[in-house]
Amino acid sequence: MLRLAIVGAGGMARVRARALLSTGKMQLCGVAARRLSTAQTMGAEFGCGACFDDYRCLVETRPDALLIEVPHEAQDSIALWGLAQSLHVLIGGTLATTSSVAEQIAALAAQNGRVVEAGYEARYSPAWEYTKQLFESGELGRLVTIRSIALWAGDPRTWYYNQQISGGMPLTHMTYCFINPVRWIAGEPLMVSAFANRVLNTAPELIDQENVVANMKFGNDALCSMTAGFVAPGGLPAWGATFIGTKGAVEVHPDEVGAGTVAVYLGGNVEEYNFTGTANAFNLQAQAFVSAIEGEGQVRNSPAASAGDVRVAEAIVTSVREARTVML
Ligand SMILES: NC(=O)c1ccc[n+]([C@@H]2O[C@H](COP(=O)([O-])OP(=O)(O)OC[C@H]3O[C@@H](n4cnc5c(N)ncnc54)[C@H](OP(=O)(O)O)[C@@H]3O)[C@@H](O)[C@H]2O)c1
Repeated sequence: MLRLAIVGAGGMARVRARALLSTGKMQLCGVAARRLSTAQTMGAEFGCGACFDDYRCLVETRPDALLIEVPHEAQDSIALWGLAQSLHVLIGGTLATTSSVAEQIAALAAQNGRVVEAGYEARYSPAWEYTKQLFESGELGRLVTIRSIALWAGDPRTWYYNQQISGGMPLTHMTYCFINPVRWIAGEPLMVSAFANRVLNTAPELIDQENVVANMKFGNDALCSMTAGFVAPGGLPAWGATFIGTKGAVEVHPDEVGAGTVAVYLGGNVEEYNFTGTANAFNLQAQAFVSAIEGEGQVRNSPAASAGDVRVAEAIVTSVREARTVML
């Protein structure tokens, strides 16, 4: 049994703890949060008595792997600490808050031979996987354009809306929806040109870019227009991506548990696929993480694969601030 320690005791710590423990190959050895009481509440739910208000104490529980589920401002030092302890690390969201920390994480992981996985479960979601396969098989021809939209009614009272704690909307929200899966399917963007505004919640400490439109040109000449923001009128369908190829197109509507639906447009016909009820992407990602630790496979969001998400988010912010196209 691999011993799992967790930093963070909020919503996603629970989702991923369940997924990792459901592999049957991990046992929970310790939980740390900012406050001892929240760590203890989660520890009690999962039958773990080793709870701390200082993540460094987790070393006493002799973990093999570390799950990090904290606000982004706190995650870099915890990830670097975990790797310095020679732990395998699953980071709940973005790999790091800056490219320079992403590089340090990649170097430490390689040096210590540890598995590091960023938290984007989209790459394990059947809907995104099917989309990738359709373009790899050539069935939809060559990828030409992509458009995506991801509007989420963020709550300005939470850390997600705080610039300092979240690291900003392009990093917190856009890397997830949908820079990470779009890069998986389309390859690396070469150029980014973005615009942003703040309209609904504008207190000084809140995110600098509340709503963003980013245009990208990829290495394979595909073009992408990505809209994301925290202003989301109720009921508006605004969560998905369309990939247009020379022979056909596909519309992806991922859902919160990582399954979702896909519509394929080919030869004048539309075929709809509903992946709801298939394997949960968080469980598949947890299995991949455990298998990689056991030396039996690869994770899909290794530092090499996911540092690009941070780079693109940084390029979006630079493009917005400097009103120019950023070359990657
Ligand atoms: N893949 C997805 O679908 C998805 C969805 C949502 C979020 N996420 C990602 O999941 C991660 C966690 O988000 P969440 O929504 O679970 O957050 P959350 O519910 O706000 O929980 C954050 C936890 O971190 C703890 N914490 C804060 N600062 C800390 C520190 N310095 N040291 C130790 N613990 C600290 C808090 O402790 P206290 O309880 O004591 O305050 C809290 O338990 C983020 O990276 C987020 O981007 C992913």
